[in-house]
Amino acid sequence: MKNFLYIRDIPLRDLKKIISAARKRKKKREGLSLLDPDKDNILKGKFLIQMFEKSSLRTRLSFYLAIKQLGGGTLTLRSDELHLSKKGESIGDTAKIISSFSDIFMFRTDSDKKMLEFKKNLKIPIINGLSPSSHPTQVLSDIFTIEEIKKKNISKLNISWIGDGKNNVVSSLIEASVKFSFKLNIGSPKNHQPGKKILDWLKKNKKNISIYKDPKKAIKNADVVFTDKVISMNDKVNKIKKIVEFKSYKVTKKLISYAKKDVIFLHCLPRGTEVSDEVFLSKNSKVWQQAKNRVDVQKSIILYCLGKLR
Ligand code: CP
Ligand code: NVA
Repeated sequence: MKNFLYIRDIPLRDLKKIISAARKRKKKREGLSLLDPDKDNILKGKFLIQMFEKSSLRTRLSFYLAIKQLGGGTLTLRSDELHLSKKGESIGDTAKIISSFSDIFMFRTDSDKKMLEFKKNLKIPIINGLSPSSHPTQVLSDIFTIEEIKKKNISKLNISWIGDGKNNVVSSLIEASVKFSFKLNIGSPKNHQPGKKILDWLKKNKKNISIYKDPKKAIKNADVVFTDKVISMNDKVNKIKKIVEFKSYKVTKKLISYAKKDVIFLHCLPRGTEVSDEVFLSKNSKVWQQAKNRVDVQKSIILYCLGKLR
């Protein structure tokens, strides 16, 4: 049994295997309808519980389709409908029940501590469907999308992140950059560059990461440009002040012109004001393909956790 919580904790060969298995399984599905199970029906009879403490559209839908296509079933819970936490039931007891009623658990939470407490108490695998410090299923799926479009190993590409340097998506991207050895340039305002904890972790690892205040420097020669909302779901900041600080980090046609001509633009979604419509709707933008690919990669992640990845 394996968990999928933080990219930094998963061996590179496993991450690569998840991606290559997703590629093969996606190809084999050509011609099938969304709810048709894959021909091998590999998870027939298996049950996934997904639980959300925060909003979700893509993660919820992609895990639903993923387990269905593998032949299993799923139920989505909202933690505020349970007896959990303020209403009195402990994480330990909740985790015991979830373990005896299902085969695998996907959790989106507002606390990494809570995620780890679930992990400690569960007898089934747990997948991080977004926490304050990590969005690992998103980033692994984005690597899948980049390699699918560029038809190259990600280690041969220049990746740029423009925007909040401290949020969950960029933190997982930093971990992925170390694991997959790709060049990562981050462009963020001074107060919003990656924090001490992740920089300390970087010091201990071989790194190919540069951090800039000037977004033009960070985007120069990029093969792939990422951004994300300035205000994340768990942000407890002065929102107006933060939006003003990020004004010159908006990915506009002018800013992206510093990247390579065939650059691809990615965004995990939902979007805010950090990208212009012109870029978001341009032919370089691959955001819809990026979102859809999450189904294929979630399938592989579920199989990995259940020890069924071939
Ligand atoms: N990208 C992403 O995780 O989207 P949702 O918040 O809609 O699940
Ligand atoms: N950084 C964003 C990602 C949403 C999928 C957030 O946490 O709100």
